[in-house]
Amino acid sequence: MTGFPIIRMRRLRDSAAIRRMTRETTLSPADFIYPMFVTHGRDIRNEIGSMPGISQLSLDHVITEVSEANELGIPAVLLFGIPTKKDPFGEEAYDPQGIVQEAIRIVKQTAPDMAVITDVCLCEYTDHGHCGVVDGDTIDNDRSLELLARAAVCQAEAGADIVAPSAMMDGQVGAIRTALNAAGHSETPIMGYSAKYASSFYGPFREAAESTPQFGDRRGYQMDGANVRQAMREIELDIEEGADMIMVKPALAYLDVLTRARQRFDLPLAAYNVSGEYSMVKAAAENGWIDERRVALEILTSIKRAGADMIITYHAKDAAVWLSENGNS
Ligand code: PBG
Repeated sequence: MTGFPIIRMRRLRDSAAIRRMTRETTLSPADFIYPMFVTHGRDIRNEIGSMPGISQLSLDHVITEVSEANELGIPAVLLFGIPTKKDPFGEEAYDPQGIVQEAIRIVKQTAPDMAVITDVCLCEYTDHGHCGVVDGDTIDNDRSLELLARAAVCQAEAGADIVAPSAMMDGQVGAIRTALNAAGHSETPIMGYSAKYASSFYGPFREAAESTPQFGDRRGYQMDGANVRQAMREIELDIEEGADMIMVKPALAYLDVLTRARQRFDLPLAAYNVSGEYSMVKAAAENGWIDERRVALEILTSIKRAGADMIITYHAKDAAVWLSENGNS
């Protein structure tokens, strides 16, 4: 005879010790990548209205934040820059004295063992706010590639450990791989934002990075949220072009995409727990409607359970603290 009353599933749920022993998914600070917004100037810490706890930071504050993240056992940061001025071609993205390049050097000095990942895109740097070169009312894919490749090389020269192209231009991973190799950076890995959807969950980020498109939207290059088979094709192409790691973004509304990617590809897989996902948790918690700590850890666990090896999350520092206080139990 099988089944109830011989079988009782509750036996393994009865004590915290047995729950811990039988837990299939665990979180660790080593799973997290902490995104940061860096800005010119001194002693600047502009909190993002829609992202409580996250600020645009000048380099002196970057030092403090990076030291904290490092001490908490977070292995990597992901840098975004807010330039002094924007122009049609996003020139500060590939300026050796650009804000991200300065930040890379500071982070490497502060915490040499931490990995610095850089977002390779033009939208923070262009006056029109699009991720590539504008031609009329479209984005010129092939002209954008050259600028994205320059940005990636410039970041690698400044000391970036991993470059992460996020512009969703066709051929961007291949163009960046070729340019990096030609510039003597054949050892620098590429983390492709392979399956990046045109998502309304990026709203708060665009406030943080000041990168809202000035006309139209990004649906001409980022993926349609209804597609999953197409995501597999995007990932496959990134791998063919030389990606060392792949990503699904956003995470929470795309857990099925993560699982499919995990089943199909053996490369390290990142998930981006994006700004809107963070802001929703923060807003509900501030209203006293949910328990921030429990909800955030539940979301992060679900992203890992779905298949992610790494999670880019604004909750990284808080979650690392919670985990050290036995948050996994
Ligand atoms: C740059 C970029 C974006 C995000 C990461 N890199 C914005 C966008 O594509 O509009 C969003 C991250 C977030 O929402 O946290 N292209």
